[in-house]
Amino acid sequence: MFPLKACVFITLVGTVCSRSLLEDAPKDTPKFHKLGLKKMETASQAAKKEGALLQRKYGTLSYTGSDAVGLYNFEDAQYYAEIKVGTPGETFKVVMDTGSSNLWVPGHKCTSAACLLHKKYNPASSSTYVANGSAFSIQYGSGQLTGVFDTDDVTLGDFVIKGQSFAESTVEPGIAFVAGKFDGILGLAFSRISVGGQVPVFDNMVAQGLVSEPVFAFWLNRTSDLVSKTTTGGEITFGGLDASHYTGPITYVPLADENYWLFKVDSIESKGVFAKTTFATNTMAIADTGTSLLAGPKDEIKKIQQHIGAIPFLNGEYLVLCKLIPTMPNIEFVINGVTFTLEPKDYVLQIEGECLSGFMGIDLPAGNPVKYILGDVFLGKYYSVFDKGNKQVGFAESTSGAEQAVKAKTMTITL
Ligand SMILES: *[C@@H]1O[C@H](CO)[C@@H](O)[C@H](O)[C@H]1NC(C)=O
Ligand SMILES: *[C@@H]1O[C@H](CO)[C@@H](O)[C@H](O)[C@H]1NC(C)=O
Repeated sequence: MFPLKACVFITLVGTVCSRSLLEDAPKDTPKFHKLGLKKMETASQAAKKEGALLQRKYGTLSYTGSDAVGLYNFEDAQYYAEIKVGTPGETFKVVMDTGSSNLWVPGHKCTSAACLLHKKYNPASSSTYVANGSAFSIQYGSGQLTGVFDTDDVTLGDFVIKGQSFAESTVEPGIAFVAGKFDGILGLAFSRISVGGQVPVFDNMVAQGLVSEPVFAFWLNRTSDLVSKTTTGGEITFGGLDASHYTGPITYVPLADENYWLFKVDSIESKGVFAKTTFATNTMAIADTGTSLLAGPKDEIKKIQQHIGAIPFLNGEYLVLCKLIPTMPNIEFVINGVTFTLEPKDYVLQIEGECLSGFMGIDLPAGNPVKYILGDVFLGKYYSVFDKGNKQVGFAESTSGAEQAVKAKTMTITL
């Protein structure tokens, strides 16, 4: 489905460093959205069951056939935000997912268990609803989620996206969505992987002039990872960056394609005292906020697991002995010539007394250009910039940062 032109067209164009895209922006009032994120509290089972989800998500969204692994749990360790759909509007919690491109919420005709336990969109109570009626269908491990397309205004903080196409579900399969604290999903990837030709929300934000720059950035709060499983939050800025949440230069890497946020990783390695171990070179990865772990090809991930001393557990996942964390090696990702280091404290998730390796093996269907999925394990350590205008992704050292006032047209939602 995706042309395999990645390695041809990626060249090392040198690292573009910039404190903020806004510095280069025209001097008129920047339009800047700042959106608070909340992390699901039950960050445990999800991580353990995410393998199935990954298979499903990347196995079928854009590729025919392939896997049939069950999706059991979808809610966990997902970062979600609140949006409003319609006028005056119903509020929904949606996973902010850079690994997909559709927006859907539970629909008024849905009688699945998940819909009974979540808010439902009702066109009749919105004065801005416009009928569409085309069928929507997306495959998850637990089955087919079906619905219909509608058009309505969608509110993100203070900003209203007019005439956004989205899907309201009619059937939500299995228990996955029942347990989820989120109501729906808001995809932030490209239209090419959008089901049914739905124009993604961010594309409309850009087209409607809501943001001054076609860029958004994620900060994910991981501060409590090794301490407890308390709720952590995060922040998305739409239209610019939040300099309080990163430090040092931003390393940009050109997009290999505009489907997922797909880019080249030069190498994945670990430096020992005497030798360097290389797990992969010239591979392709995506930045995916909707995935909690860091996934890659099973054979390569197996070498990483052996290197860090992890032992196989379930569903392609591995455990480590918590007491060995201080002695475990760093794993390095070289992206556009710059090394991004994950220390054990970054890649080990402590869940209910168990220590889970943040690396997970997954073999995506042949022909899928995606080899590695850099989920929250990576994006928690590195502030991530999704730059549509310049067709690039950027990473910088994340900092917990202090809240600071941003620009005039700022929207902040704290969840
Ligand atoms: C219905 O929605 C789909 C998905 O956004 C879109 O491709 C299609 O053009 C819409 N049809 C009408 C009649 O508005
Ligand atoms: C990050 O999360 C921790 C623990 O949940 C919290 O105490 C801290 O205030 C959060 N940091 C920011 C900057 O919000």
